[in-house]
Amino acid sequence: MLGERGPRARVRANRAAVRTTLAAGASHGLVLGVRDPGLVGALVSVPPRGWPLPPPGLPLRLWAIAVQGLGAARRWAEAFDALAAHHPILPHWYLGTLGVDPTHQQRGLGGALLEAWLRHVDADRCGVWLETDRPENIAFYERAGFELAGEVPVFDVPVWLMSRPPAPAQGDTPAQRDVPA
Ligand SMILES: CC(C)(COP(=O)(O)OP(=O)(O)OC[C@H]1O[C@@H](n2cnc3c(N)ncnc32)[C@H](O)[C@@H]1OP(=O)(O)O)[C@@H](O)C(=O)NCCC(=O)NCCS
Repeated sequence: MLGERGPRARVRANRAAVRTTLAAGASHGLVLGVRDPGLVGALVSVPPRGWPLPPPGLPLRLWAIAVQGLGAARRWAEAFDALAAHHPILPHWYLGTLGVDPTHQQRGLGGALLEAWLRHVDADRCGVWLETDRPENIAFYERAGFELAGEVPVFDVPVWLMSRPPAPAQGDTPAQRDVPA
């Protein structure tokens, strides 16, 4: 996505992408964070009928394009379109970003963030949707009740689509859950 550039420029470009995602998520979505004692993990999500998030304000957008370059901005837009075509039609929560600082991974923080968010989401009885391009994340999400819903190549990188059925209403059996279309 970011093209050929050195590690420092990649970090700068990634920071710009995360900053725009956080700004849009904080204004129109739901953002959860975990501190230890500084911020070491975050989850950015979009509520039912909120996807796609409106873009952040023009100054932040122009700054992000200046940092990332026009090529990266064009590739982000192409990737967005490729994945947008598969989004569920029914109202659903969308998990946009989940990340834990590498020095704090494998300690249960990512799982705890996901669990806390799903408890909130389940109250809405909506399906949940996410995409991941890391095969090692599939089992992590399956443990939280997600199922594979497809695989889409984006610039030759496989991206796995995952869905989680709505929480059953009281008295329902698991078979009565609806999977988002
Ligand atoms: C995916 C991600 C958010 C998981 O965060 P995390 O804090 O490492 O998650 P957890 O610690 O809850 O779980 C990860 C693993 O640690 C294990 N684990 C949980 N608590 C543990 C503990 N106390 N001690 C050791 N291992 C533990 C879990 O069983 C899990 O095992 P797995 O590797 O078989 O899945 C993190 O790896 C990450 O930020 N990755 C880069 C960004 C990314 O890919 N985000 C997802 C985009 S869709």
